[in-house]
Amino acid sequence: MSFKLRSFLILANSRSSARPFATKADIDTIVRVDHAGELGADRIYAGQMAVLGHTEKGPLIQHMWDQEKVHRARFEELIRKYRVRPTVMTPIWNVAGFVLGAGSALLGDKAAMACTVAVETVIVEHYNDQLRELMDDPNANKELMETIKQFRDEEQEHHDIGIDHGAEQAPLYRAFSELIKFGCKTAIAISKTI
Ligand SMILES: [Fe+2]
Ligand SMILES: [Fe+2]
Repeated sequence: MSFKLRSFLILANSRSSARPFATKADIDTIVRVDHAGELGADRIYAGQMAVLGHTEKGPLIQHMWDQEKVHRARFEELIRKYRVRPTVMTPIWNVAGFVLGAGSALLGDKAAMACTVAVETVIVEHYNDQLRELMDDPNANKELMETIKQFRDEEQEHHDIGIDHGAEQAPLYRAFSELIKFGCKTAIAISKTI
C-alpha cells in the first residue's frame, strides 16, 4: 500500500471514530455532565443516610437513594457506550456530594430535605434545558432523551418529597437553598467542559 493511501486511510478512520455522527459533541457534553450530576446525587443521599439512616426519615431517603443508584449506573453505562471522557472533577464531586449530604443532615432532617429540594430544583431545570435542546434536534439521540425524561420525572418526585417533609421549615431556608443551588449550577458549568 502506498504511503499516501495509507495516510489517507488513517486520517479517514480517525475522523470517523472521533465523530461517528453529527451530534457526538452534544452527546459528549450531555453524558459527561449528567454522569457527574448523578454521581454527586448518589453521594449526597449516601451522606444523608449515614447521618439519618436510623431515623424515621431513613426509608424515605433510602427510596430516593435507590433511584439515584439506578441513575448513576445508567450514565456509567452511557459513558462507556458513547466513549465519553468523565469529568476530571469526578473525585471532587465524590467527596463534595457526601459532605453536602452528611453536612446538611447534621443540621437536622428539615435541612436535609431543604438540601434535596435545592439540588433537585437545579437538576430538574437542567434536564428540562437538555430536553428542549434535544427536541429541537431532528437527529437527537432517542435513547438519551427517554433516559433524561424518566430521570427528570424522578428528580421532580424527590423535590416534592423534600417539600412534603418540611424542607421549607428548615432554619435559614432561603439562604441555605440559594447557596446550594449556586454550588450545583457551578458544578454543572464546570462538568460540561472539563
Ligand atoms: Fe438522579
Ligand atoms: Fe434525585
